[in-house]
Amino acid sequence: MVREIEAAVIERAGVPPVIETLLLDDPRPGEILVRMTASGVCHSDLHVRDGEWQRPGPIVMGHEGAGVIEAVGEGLDPGVIGRAVALSWYAPCLRCRECQRGRQWVCTGSPSFRHAQADGTTRLARRDGSPVLAYLSIGTMASAQVVPATAVVPMTDGVPPEVAALIGCGVSTGVGAVLKTADVPAGSTVAIIGLGGVGLSCVMGAVIAGARRIVVVDTNRAKLDLAGTLGATHSVQADPANPVATIEGIREAAGEGGPDFVFEAIGLPATIEQAIAVLPPGATAVLVGMTAFGQTVRFEGFPFVDGARRIIGSNYGSAVAALDFPRYAEWFLQGRLPVDRLIDRRLPLAELDDAFDRLRAGQAARQIVVFPGASAG
Ligand SMILES: NC(=O)c1ccc[n+]([C@@H]2O[C@H](COP(=O)([O-])OP(=O)(O)OC[C@H]3O[C@@H](n4cnc5c(N)ncnc54)[C@H](O)[C@@H]3O)[C@@H](O)[C@H]2O)c1
Ligand SMILES: [Zn+2]
Ligand SMILES: [Zn+2]
Repeated sequence: MVREIEAAVIERAGVPPVIETLLLDDPRPGEILVRMTASGVCHSDLHVRDGEWQRPGPIVMGHEGAGVIEAVGEGLDPGVIGRAVALSWYAPCLRCRECQRGRQWVCTGSPSFRHAQADGTTRLARRDGSPVLAYLSIGTMASAQVVPATAVVPMTDGVPPEVAALIGCGVSTGVGAVLKTADVPAGSTVAIIGLGGVGLSCVMGAVIAGARRIVVVDTNRAKLDLAGTLGATHSVQADPANPVATIEGIREAAGEGGPDFVFEAIGLPATIEQAIAVLPPGATAVLVGMTAFGQTVRFEGFPFVDGARRIIGSNYGSAVAALDFPRYAEWFLQGRLPVDRLIDRRLPLAELDDAFDRLRAGQAARQIVVFPGASAG
């Protein structure tokens, strides 16, 4: 049965989304049809919207989503129909060397690279029959979507759709960068540069890790204040025109020469360079923010090596979605991970480009597209 769905489509990277009615085909073996309930607006969508990341098109935006299972492909258990789920934007192939090592965040056989299903085709089409891709194979800015079954993670009862959606990207990325990628020991001093959904999740992760000092850095005062309510102990208001003052501010707030760990959660060469420059000997910069394609960063070689400093790239907070999503959901229910405090706006799909404007201006914490009929349970 072919269904009509509403989706935010961009023709190619760099152009605004248009809300279109598309045709969605049935799920095939290894695929699941999900009715979407919530989809967060992450800066990674904005990188595509603004043409900083080239992607094929036309493509349905969105990769931070939650929904309810409506149908399953042949061979999958129909008993899961009606189950609330969160979606992983990196559907693991479960067969490659990295998946077998348990490192699904660097899976080399994922269909997510191709923005299609495992067989390379898509279940989405325009009325004229021309195919439409789904961003990272899940394209969550749509009223419903067919996704790879390995992208679907059952959600713990009692977790609201908005929170489940954020677990699908920002929370797993930020909390996981601290607890999994960097494995920050209790008592460490941590600095976090950039306080969007990802950086604020790093703050929550640093609290759970038992960091002694948590220094937060942003240009926006309101973000610093919000981070303070989540457990940040010191704040530095960044002035992009004066990076030296920002570096000195971080060192002073961290004490003891500087922080043990710095998390960069913006993706600008200038702030990545600040994260590296602020490291005292033996300390680690964890790069979480993603730059526009082709950008490079610079640092001086000798002192970096002489001081045994480290840089780590963190993809998806080293998430194994099937294990980590339920863990983060449980922490939310226990009050240890107050994900709902990150949400500062709920909007209909039609206002997506307005949400991108707010995100580009650095004004948003996390904005969530909510779909009609989404229940609170
Ligand atoms: N590594 C991953 O797996 C992964 C996953 C998701 C997102 N990301 C990336 O993480 C980054 C952050 O995503 P987000 O959705 O939280 O973004 P966001 O736009 O919501 O947050 C960025 C924050 O940085 C602040 N900022 C901007 N310029 C600054 C400057 N010069 N100095 C200090 N603060 C400044 C803004 O005020 C804003 O609060 C993006 O690059 C995104 O693509 C990476
Ligand atoms: Zn994201
Ligand atoms: Zn794999």
